[in-house]
Amino acid sequence: MKHGLTRKFVGAFALVVLLSVLILNFFVGLRLKNYFEVKTAERLRSNAILISNILRDDMAARDRQAIQEMTAELARSLEVRITIIGSDGRVMADTAQIPGEMDNHSERLEMKRAMHGGTGESIRYSDTLQYSMKYVAVAVESGGTVVGFVRLALSLEDLEQQIQVIYRTVLIGGLVAFVCVLVVGTIITRGIITPITEMTEVAQAISRGDFSKRLKVKSTDELGVLAQSLNSMADELRLTIDDLRRMDKVRTDFVANVSHELKTPLTSIRGFIETLEDGALEDKANARRFLAIIKKHANALSNITDDLLRLSELESVEARIERAPFDLRALVEEVASGFALALEEKGQELVKSLKGDDFTVEADRQRMEQVMLNLVDNAINYSPAGSRIRVAVELADGVFKISVEDNGPGISREHLSRVFERFYSVDKARSREVGGTGLGLSIVKHTVLMHKGEISMDSKLGRGTTVSFTLPKS
Ligand SMILES: Nc1ncnc2c1ncn2[C@@H]1O[C@H](COP(=O)(O)OP(=O)(O)OP(=O)(O)O)[C@@H](O)[C@H]1O
Ligand SMILES: [Mg+2]
Repeated sequence: MKHGLTRKFVGAFALVVLLSVLILNFFVGLRLKNYFEVKTAERLRSNAILISNILRDDMAARDRQAIQEMTAELARSLEVRITIIGSDGRVMADTAQIPGEMDNHSERLEMKRAMHGGTGESIRYSDTLQYSMKYVAVAVESGGTVVGFVRLALSLEDLEQQIQVIYRTVLIGGLVAFVCVLVVGTIITRGIITPITEMTEVAQAISRGDFSKRLKVKSTDELGVLAQSLNSMADELRLTIDDLRRMDKVRTDFVANVSHELKTPLTSIRGFIETLEDGALEDKANARRFLAIIKKHANALSNITDDLLRLSELESVEARIERAPFDLRALVEEVASGFALALEEKGQELVKSLKGDDFTVEADRQRMEQVMLNLVDNAINYSPAGSRIRVAVELADGVFKISVEDNGPGISREHLSRVFERFYSVDKARSREVGGTGLGLSIVKHTVLMHKGEISMDSKLGRGTTVSFTLPKS
């Protein structure tokens, strides 16, 4: 996959660059060749004019000796073939051949043109030199008459070679550019493809349900933003999945707990009913005892179902609290007197500490009563005989702080964080003994939270436990 895209990109790059280089080369080469040819012709012409100026007097005087010496010297420095021709077409000097052995030149095309217009050019195969030449001839005038011609010739082979050099240079330049573009193009493409490949891997991992992979965000460009989004999507998905799993576990645990809590008293009830059926019914005294036990378990069942109903009602979306002003002090007194008998039986003492004079609060009285009953019930149940329980209420900044404190056995740290969970009890056997199901504190917590209050539990092993919660005055 990785190589697929890189190859496609670089292939396309290469094709475009190669085409550009070839087209550029073609036009630049053509233009340069043309320019070179024009320049060469111009150079030959200006050199011919220069030479004619130098030789004008000698040509007028027909001084062959002087003309030949000068011509040879000039040809060396100019690197062209120079031919000096008389006005009659006879060759007076030539740097390639002996003038005496050469034909009359008046019929040569460039000469004819020069005779008519002063300058003439032609390209022709030279029999003498055996290759194509470029010829440029200019007429030399002295005192109003043509005294002869200066003709320069350059081998086209040289010209061709020089053009080839130019072509090759341009081509090499183009190829170097091509290679550079390929290298740079590959690097750039890799820079884009690599992050995409990494993102694909993460996305594939997510689709497999693996949310652990994360991308390194290296840039702030579109790819960086995309990587960032993928990361937060993975985070979000992981949280959601974790939540769903936890909720699912809570649900299955809950069902298991409910079943278990219901099963214990039911088993017991069935056992005693069977005993009665098997004959115990005749034994009046025992029968009454068994019936009392059955009644106790039936009550426990009814307590559990009541608690469950209350809890599901609190948890339901439509759960409503009926706020109305009532006196918190009166509620505390009521709850305390309700427990008077239980306290007396265990030889425990309940101390009330209510500071201030305004105890009017706007809340759901019935539910708050439930909360207080649960907390005092726990304090009585889990503390030993003869202990002391303290209920305190104080108002600060429009918020009541209510606490129930005991000097019972306390709760260890590991259990403390879990006692608000449904069905959680520190000591199952002990809880069952006192008739608890572990729902009390979760109902308390829900109720307090619904009143926009906060709840906490503070406990020291062997010292005692304090449950405190807040309740906004209105
Ligand atoms: N004041 C306390 N001192 C020591 N342990 C306590 C105290 N209050 C609660 N606990 C522990 O926390 C557990 C949970 O309490 P919670 O009130 O939720 O359930 P419960 O009392 O067992 O049953 P329920 O209140 O539903 O009848 C209890 O089982 C008990 O082990
Ligand atoms: Mg309880």
